[in-house]
Order: sequence, then structure tokens, then C-alpha cells
Amino acid sequence: MTKKKVAFSGIQPSGDIHVGNYLGAIKNWARMIDEVDCIFCIVDLHAITVMYDPAEMQERILRAAAVNIACGLDPARCRIFVQSRVPEHTELCWLLNTVTPIGSLERMTQFKDKSQQQQENVNTGLFDYPVLMAADIMLYKANVVPVGDDQLQHLELCREIVRKFNARFGDVFPEPQERLSQAPRIMGLDGKAKMSKSLGNHISLIDEPDAVWKKLAPAFTDPARQRRSDPGNPDICNIFTMHRGFSPPEVVQRVNGECRGAEIGCVECKKMLLEHMLKELEPIRTRAKELIAEPERVYSALSEGAAKCGTVAEATMDEVRRAMGLRK
Ligand code: TRP
Repeated sequence: MTKKKVAFSGIQPSGDIHVGNYLGAIKNWARMIDEVDCIFCIVDLHAITVMYDPAEMQERILRAAAVNIACGLDPARCRIFVQSRVPEHTELCWLLNTVTPIGSLERMTQFKDKSQQQQENVNTGLFDYPVLMAADIMLYKANVVPVGDDQLQHLELCREIVRKFNARFGDVFPEPQERLSQAPRIMGLDGKAKMSKSLGNHISLIDEPDAVWKKLAPAFTDPARQRRSDPGNPDICNIFTMHRGFSPPEVVQRVNGECRGAEIGCVECKKMLLEHMLKELEPIRTRAKELIAEPERVYSALSEGAAKCGTVAEATMDEVRRAMGLRK
């Protein structure tokens, strides 16, 4: 029997999981679940590199877990757990720090952006964030990492760390490859930045239908379309990008043609998107809300996941410590 490839991915428990996370990562990920050995991590230790309210953290973890499980990351078919419950993540991070050039971390655009956004809190954890991410991946010797394109630079750094480690201490880690989702980056509803949990420009997976429409109705489209008679360019329209994520191919094709030919208005186009989006998200929302109402079930699935991952993590750390001369 050939061994299944290991896939690892992480999501931050920061605010509600939204349509951008879903199309950009989770949907893709849920599809891989039987084809590869999937490990899915709620990265609370990454989330604390920005300001947050400790009193809200557990609730956020619960919601993140519930929504992901509802999206198809069934704990019976994959491992899902909370990062801080497997302490080897931070131990490996420290060891990897010693092979990571400062210059490489200084080049990370996410670090530069976040340092700009939170000038009052440019902490060392924010700087070291990519090394912790590399540790997440390497601890399970993951081969495949489903990510959005904004994480590619971090993954490239992870490969650099793998190469540096292996060159110095022996061939311990495989070089992970990204698995990009088909859906391109989803923009925020205001069209200004990518859809983000912290910017208030998103549609949450647990928003009720009327809330979804309230957000979709005024959402940004191709600015060239002032009137219905103005032809549009779907390639630059965020609504069309979401159509490609949610609508069946014939609808996508129709909307594409009719927008270019000015035969459909933006409101009509959004109503069609709403219909298909809700159809797909309805069972997810229902399931997620059931799970949020039964936290014990979620916590027990997470503990089980942490126990299984802990076993693998311990074995890897044993090998790493030996390779680095930290034990016999
Ligand atoms: N940095 C990722 C993000 O913000 C989350 C993450 C942490 C991750 N560790 C990971 C993703 C390991 C993939 C693999 O999206």
C-alpha cells in the first residue's frame, strides 16, 4: 500500500469565517479529505500576534471549529485540533528559528503590512509568525499545503527552512508544495481590500439570508457599469468571481455574456448569486449553529484530534532532537 500524502492547513480563529475563506481554502480542502491524510489546525498561537480580547478567544475557537466541521472537515475523516494544545509546535518553532535568516523574515510582505497596520504592537511574535507556520507544517512532515495566494511567500520560506535544516542536520523533512484553490482571491464587498475577518467587508458563513442580501445588495461591482445599458467586464467584478465559486457553469456562462452585452443589471446578477450562494451555504449554517449550541461535542472532537496529532508531533520531535544533537 502506498502511503497517503499528508496535507496540513491552518486557519486563524479571528472573527467569523467568511465566503473568502470558504472559496479560497476550506472548500478546496474539504474536497481533498479522502484523497490525502488531512490535518487541520486552528492556529490560536498565530492569532495572538495581533491585539485581541482573551475573554473572547475560546468562543472564537469554538465558532471556527464548528464552521469548519460544518463545511465538511468531518473529525471522523480528518484530524482537526487547536494549535496550542500540541506544545511541540512552539518547541519546533524555536529550533527552526536557529536556521532561519533574519533577512528572509524581513522580506515577508505580511509582516511589513501588519507592522504598518499595528504600529503600536510590532511584536516579536508577528515577526516570527512565518517560522511558527513552518513548524506547523513540518511537524507532520506535510507534503501538501492548501492555501490562498497570500500565503505563498510564507510557504516558500518554509521550503527554505526545510532545505537549510536538512542540509545541516540530515534529511528529516520533505519540501511541502502548495495546493492553490481554483477560486481567485475574493475581494471585500467594498472592493477596497481582500475579504477579511477584521475589515468588516465580508459575508460570514453563518449570516442569515436577509443579512447576506443586505451585504450583497450594495456590494462593489465593475465601476464602468453606472447604468444597466453600460457593458461590464466580469473579469474585474467581485460578484462574478463569487458566481464562479457558487453558481453552476451555465449560470456563470450566462452572467458572463449578459454582463458584457449589458443585458443584465447588477442587482439581477446579485440576486442570482444570492440564490446559489444560499443554496450552498444553508446546510453549512444550519450545521454550524447546531454545533455551536453543543460545544461539548466540538471540544471532544478537538481533544481527540490533539491526541492523535500529539503522537505524530512527539515522534517528529524525537527525530529532530536526535538530528540536532539534543539527545542520544
Ligand atoms: N498563516 C495562515 C493564514 O493566515 C494560517 C496558517 C498558520 C497556516 N499555520 C499554517 C496555513 C500552516 C497553512 C499551513 O492564512
